[in-house]
Amino acid sequence: ATTLGSAAAERGRYFGAAVAGHKLNEGAYTTIVNREFTSLTAENEMKWDATEPSRGSFNFSAGDRIVNHARQQGMSVRGHALVWHAQQPGWAQGLEGSTLRSAMVNHINQVAGHYRGQIHSWDVVNEAFADWPAGQRRDSNLQRTGNDWIEVAFRTARAADPSAKLCYNDYNTDGINDKSTAIYTMVRDFIARGVPIDCVGFQSHLTNSPPADYQANLQRFADLGVEVQITELDIAGADQANAYATVTRACLAVSRCTGITVWGVRDSDSWRTGENPLLFDGAGNKKPAYTAVLDTLNGG
Ligand code: G3I
Repeated sequence: ATTLGSAAAERGRYFGAAVAGHKLNEGAYTTIVNREFTSLTAENEMKWDATEPSRGSFNFSAGDRIVNHARQQGMSVRGHALVWHAQQPGWAQGLEGSTLRSAMVNHINQVAGHYRGQIHSWDVVNEAFADWPAGQRRDSNLQRTGNDWIEVAFRTARAADPSAKLCYNDYNTDGINDKSTAIYTMVRDFIARGVPIDCVGFQSHLTNSPPADYQANLQRFADLGVEVQITELDIAGADQANAYATVTRACLAVSRCTGITVWGVRDSDSWRTGENPLLFDGAGNKKPAYTAVLDTLNGG
């Protein structure tokens, strides 16, 4: 196959990108998006600050634009992200306790309800675990509402959109380490107690190759019975092309790894300014990393 999306489809997987809605006006950008990808993620447009700028008042126009584009192109959509400690609107940053908890539940109901049936997988909760001390929950206004906030978010999302796969998503979880193990333990506990969870997202913001146990880490989550998805892939460093091939190979080797999303299209679109971590250069040319991914998907 000659595109990322079609090559991934032959392996039973999606290949997606995070997009910025306003760039869909730009011909050079949209040409690549439409040609290469089979799943879109809104880079910012479905986050809390974007969708509920003031309490109880929702704005879905920017997110809808991406969903409509995807639909017209026959692509699916990953939802990102229902609840997160960052990119909260100012009004939510100032809430706490039961007031914040009910605002969270209402937010999930409204956003997942609005997009009901149109999202293949939702990042229900993003980045709830700390980097240090690793293995613990991250302190946040949400965490301070009570340790059960994550399971409440998942149960609420299931009811609001029963057909979406519900994911927990995080970074620095690429290898087997204290942070990924804490998430593994939470997922295992959710499954044991019947809390709805279907997938774990590994953001995979990397520099050069992932840890040697990257595939083993994906596999241990898959062995719990959840899907694993690579959700925000970008890789800086001189060994970029090989590293992209390694990540792609790992996903192909894990049968429950259902897709890969790169976090942006061209290097100039990346949040990692100056690191050139994506598959297309600023002029939209395919980089060696692109060829490495495509060849790997094609079995090379
Ligand atoms: O839209 C405003 C614009 O009106 C304003 O003029 C401009 C000036 O700063 O800011 C614009 O908002 C920025 C927004 O991106 C849209 O470009 C925010 O400042 C900026 O903080 C925001 O950054 C996003 C970041 O999440 C916020 O935490 C990045 O685009 C986005 O790539 C990044 O994505 C995250 C994932 O959601 C979660 N995982 C990590 C990943 C990388 O940080």
